[in-house]
Amino acid sequence: MPKLPSYLVKPQLLKSLGSCKIYSVTDFLQAEFEKLVTATFGEEELIEVTRQLIRNYSTQPKDALTLYRYLLRKTSIIQTFIKGLDDLLNGGLLTGTLLEICGLSGTGKTQICLTITVNIVLKMKSNVTYIDTKRDFCSSRVLQILQTWNYKEETDTVLERINVIPADDIYKLITLLQSIKNVLPSSEKFGKLIVIDSLAVLFFPFIGAPNNQGLSLLNHIASLLKIIAVKHHVAIIVTNLASKFEDNIDFMKLEDLKQDIKESEVRPTLGKYWLHVPNTRLIVSKSSAVECERVLVIKKSDYIKLGNTCTVQVLNSGVR
Ligand SMILES: Nc1ncnc2c1ncn2[C@@H]1O[C@H](COP(=O)(O)OP(=O)(O)OP(=O)(O)O)[C@@H](O)[C@H]1O
Ligand SMILES: [Mg+2]
Repeated sequence: MPKLPSYLVKPQLLKSLGSCKIYSVTDFLQAEFEKLVTATFGEEELIEVTRQLIRNYSTQPKDALTLYRYLLRKTSIIQTFIKGLDDLLNGGLLTGTLLEICGLSGTGKTQICLTITVNIVLKMKSNVTYIDTKRDFCSSRVLQILQTWNYKEETDTVLERINVIPADDIYKLITLLQSIKNVLPSSEKFGKLIVIDSLAVLFFPFIGAPNNQGLSLLNHIASLLKIIAVKHHVAIIVTNLASKFEDNIDFMKLEDLKQDIKESEVRPTLGKYWLHVPNTRLIVSKSSAVECERVLVIKKSDYIKLGNTCTVQVLNSGVR
């Protein structure tokens, strides 16, 4: 509740309003007219202050065309520089959106995130924020990728530009996301990409918890992620664990999903609510033919045809 600002309300008037227990903008706008007339020094002044406060503190309507033009101006595509993936994503990661990379353990989600991180830092000279929920961020793997590509001189600069932030419980993640949300949109501190690897593990403590506690926290995180992506024009990648159909993680009533995923071999954890949160979901799985090969399938998207696939390889030099 913002206090009445001294640049709009003269000190004498502030004092007089205070004596009527009117301290904030909301107090002022909700106060009865008669009470305000007593506190202010005439109707003219009252009308002027009211007008100024409404102009400064109420949301202004904007027409849809203005909003659409703003969106076009602010949205950009960030290449991952993994050729197959960029083709699959129609060019790369879309700012303002959330991409989920989902797969069984060991399929290469982290390898994909690390490679994209290195590529963006190296080729776009942008910072990347890497939220490390398992506290297993592997700097030596980043070095290995750089060295195989002969980027020996750039190693320090690249490592410096990756903000690795540990967040090993859900409350730390929420606090962190809130602080990211509150930085100025012009700040370059958090870069053009935010990775959360992995979101799923933070919810394991809530399996079987009463009152759907995990669900309300997930809901909160989902809205923070959407606000951050749009407000800061960043792309967000979240990794999610997939489980085989038989393994039941029931804390978010996964049994309700049976209908939706009948045809699928694996399913995302995090429950039914989360299913609709990411703009795009990629399922990554090991190819049966070649050991290092991974198949990526679009399982959900606002703008890409479902079922589109690509294959990539996990190599010493990263994901190619
Ligand atoms: N230097 C490397 N060279 C080639 N392949 C590698 C290298 N490092 C890791 N891999 C491959 O990546 C796999 C592990 O992938 P990754 O850690 O990304 O899995 P994940 O999907 O993130 O698993 P989890 O869900 O458990 O975190 C290994 O099994 C291996 O096949
Ligand atoms: Mg991983």
